[in-house]
Amino acid sequence: MMNKNVQVGDKIVLRSLIKKYFPPDLLINLDLISREKSETNTAKIPYILEELDKFGVPYGSKLGSGTNRYGILLDGYVVKIALDAAGKIDNRREFKYVMDVLDDVSKAYETVKTGIVLVCQYITPFSIDDFYDNQEQMRKILKKYDDLYLIGDVGVSTDNYINWGTRMDGSIAMLDYAYIYSTSFKNFMCTCEDEGNLEYDADHNYMICPFCRKKWSFGDIRRRITKDEQEAEIGDVMELGYVLRSPEEEHIVEAGKSVVKMKKPKKKKEPIVKRVVKDEDRTYDENMEYLKEFDEMVKNQGTE
Ligand SMILES: Nc1ncnc2c1ncn2[C@@H]1O[C@H](COP(=O)(O)OP(=O)(O)O)[C@@H](O)[C@H]1O
Ligand SMILES: [Mg+2]
Ligand SMILES: [Zn+2]
Repeated sequence: MMNKNVQVGDKIVLRSLIKKYFPPDLLINLDLISREKSETNTAKIPYILEELDKFGVPYGSKLGSGTNRYGILLDGYVVKIALDAAGKIDNRREFKYVMDVLDDVSKAYETVKTGIVLVCQYITPFSIDDFYDNQEQMRKILKKYDDLYLIGDVGVSTDNYINWGTRMDGSIAMLDYAYIYSTSFKNFMCTCEDEGNLEYDADHNYMICPFCRKKWSFGDIRRRITKDEQEAEIGDVMELGYVLRSPEEEHIVEAGKSVVKMKKPKKKKEPIVKRVVKDEDRTYDENMEYLKEFDEMVKNQGTE
């Protein structure tokens, strides 16, 4: 899908919030924190904040954490920082599928190859009252994607309403849609001998086998998807967008590479277009060398 206002061949100015505020060393340090196995995800948050402060990232509000990611507000955008390997996959997954579900999710603008950070549109999370007021609308949205995607943890339930929110214009959207899987990539079948294609219940909280009526939670289904299958499905995010090497660059719009229009928060008159993937400047070997050194440093410091 191409943004209506942008044509193939047009010149566009792309800006990168990641290039502006997240130098390679910071990305590496955040990556190291995400790999730390001896800490819980909650315990990692102070280390993340310490890194952001150390590198002078001028974030505003702290949005808090879900299961695998921590959110901050930066220049009016949300930056989701992965707390572990699953969080990195979640960021890449949202970036990969955003164009397919664009009207109904927080727009994902920018990421890096590893998925350690994702920049996306701010959406005011639902209160419980918002949830009760918007259930019909939620069902309607979820129904749109029934055939093409499996989207977990966004069903109409008191467990999931925090993954929904309201945009500035009053429309509602999913703000956490990381458990999105394309049915064209993988068919979700029951393990019974009839191998029924799983179907949603009315509220999209479970999937049900049409033959044996077994109820599957999204957790059950996810556990059946291997890491290799995930990697094969998501592929290289660097191929999905425009690769920026500086905070601001002119690019030519290419066919097959989508652009999501992004408004700069304060200067409302000046439209900014971009959907970017940024790469780290270091080579893989340089990164590994750096990681090793850093690992040593961390070990020598010990943990508090
Ligand atoms: N687009 C968004 N707008 C506002 N807040 C967000 C947005 N995306 C995530 N958040 C907040 O950031 C935190 C973590 O994000 P979330 O996507 O829920 O992570 P997880 O996948 O780990 O559950 C949550 O507190 C959530 O409310
Ligand atoms: Mg969440
Ligand atoms: Zn079955």
